[in-house]
Amino acid sequence: MAKPLYVLNGPNLNLLGAREPELYGRTTLADIKKICIAAAKPFDLAVDFRQTQREGELVEWIHEAREKGSAIIINAAAYSHTSVAIYDALKMADLPIIEVHLSNIFAREAFRHHSYVSAAANGVICGLKADGYRLAVEAAASLAGQRGSKKK
Ligand code: DQA
Repeated sequence: MAKPLYVLNGPNLNLLGAREPELYGRTTLADIKKICIAAAKPFDLAVDFRQTQREGELVEWIHEAREKGSAIIINAAAYSHTSVAIYDALKMADLPIIEVHLSNIFAREAFRHHSYVSAAANGVICGLKADGYRLAVEAAASLAGQRGSKKK
């Protein structure tokens, strides 16, 4: 079987469902995991779905995905706007990378308008709440199927 899609989630996303539902929706992270697994199935891809509050753990998981994954889908949450370490790790991963945000970060505070992750990603999906993850899985699976045609 092909290598799994890594779906990596950053801080506070464990509280989805209860956290500011007007921005993030009422879908829990457990539900989002199910959505990703179902979306990957037609592509015969497994999903390795994780969440952490810690920046360094995200960096370590990106290093792992580099070796063991077929693509990375990442919602680095607040670290998207601050983390050069995550950007550097993503730049080293020669894999399709899709950035996801549940909310439309461009319609929010100015400090959310810049994401370090975006500069390392093939594509960015934001503002579509949980459905963004389904679309990200489809995009990542499609790019993983065309490996070689990737990035800079
Ligand atoms: C988020 C947007 C970030 O600005 C925020 O810090 C989050 C969630 C989103 O999914 O919309 O924690 O990444």
